[in-house]
Amino acid sequence: MRPQLPNEADFPADGSDIEKLSFLVHYAILAPSSHNSQPWLFIQHDDHLALHADRTRALPVVDPHDRSLAISCGCALLYLRVAAAHFGLPLKVYRNPEDDADLLVSIYVDSQAGAQPALAELFEVLPQRMTNRFAYEPGSVSDKQLKHFAEISATHLVSLRSYHDDASRHAIAERVSAGDRQQMESKPFRRELASWMHHNRTRTGDGMPGFTQGLGELMSIAAPLVVRTFDVGKGTAARDHDLAEHSPALCVFGTNTDHHLDWIRTGEALAQVLLSAAKSGLSASFLNQPIEVDLMRTELAKHVGVRFPQILMRLGKPTREAPHTPRRPVSDVLARAGMHEDYQSFQGF
Ligand SMILES: Cc1cc2nc3c(=O)[nH]c(=O)nc-3n(C[C@H](O)[C@H](O)[C@H](O)COP(=O)(O)O)c2cc1C
Repeated sequence: MRPQLPNEADFPADGSDIEKLSFLVHYAILAPSSHNSQPWLFIQHDDHLALHADRTRALPVVDPHDRSLAISCGCALLYLRVAAAHFGLPLKVYRNPEDDADLLVSIYVDSQAGAQPALAELFEVLPQRMTNRFAYEPGSVSDKQLKHFAEISATHLVSLRSYHDDASRHAIAERVSAGDRQQMESKPFRRELASWMHHNRTRTGDGMPGFTQGLGELMSIAAPLVVRTFDVGKGTAARDHDLAEHSPALCVFGTNTDHHLDWIRTGEALAQVLLSAAKSGLSASFLNQPIEVDLMRTELAKHVGVRFPQILMRLGKPTREAPHTPRRPVSDVLARAGMHEDYQSFQGF
């Protein structure tokens, strides 16, 4: 289930800065996140909105350094910036360079900041974009589009390299399937993954319902149990190998350093590329396995000539549509500053 989007006419144009910024959170929560964990919290201060990492929603097995968590928060930031551009709200954004801090970004309204037409034009696709894990039409991405996506990514100081020749796709597909086999051998990995897999009629606002994998009603009930109990690595590896090898394009986002700031910027680059792709009828799905397994990441880095690969995804025109994944309500992710002090005094700390 997805919370309903507000009526655009309800944007509080005459309200305070924090009322305006809080309105944008309705759009920020549509961002993609690893396992649809939605690991973000928006804290309302008198004069600004703070974006915090919600580490209670971390994925300690697949993402022990909270890298994907920070990238997901970067995606939510970009979504919020797109909505701000649409409503004509100029923003000043301070990204916290401190590693491991929960406070990631502070967002202010700043009348001196320029308009962002390139972001504003992505607003219409915010509710439409989705991860599509089905097959893509061969040759459905042009060199011109890939160049455009690389340019977008570079504006966030993140490199984007794309591959569509047979040899490169095969080499990457081999790494993806090896990563699948390695991850699925691990019981803790399977247990964590299964805990975010839900049946198709789930009423929880997070995680991945079975339909995202093309599963019907009954299979969606059985799938988490199967994944938790059995090593399904062989089947997953074969499927992902096939998808990677037949992808119109495989794309690697990379950075020169590997700090929190790089991850937030990667999230912003990723989200803007995903939205631009969606605007031209393209979808993406993730093949991060060779980045998630530490030793394989080093090897992939050498292979693609990028210091720190952050995200590996395939891109193309999907052959099949999929329903949208759920989201938690805004009331679960938006709180006013000082709530933790209220909680402490309530507990008598
Ligand atoms: C940083 C990040 C990492 C992700 N990694 C994977 C992945 O390894 N495999 C996968 O199938 N999907 C991955 N996803 C996609 C999420 O599962 C997806 O965004 C989430 O379920 C919400 O669905 P939506 O993108 O359709 O809105 C990732 C997304 C993000 C932002």
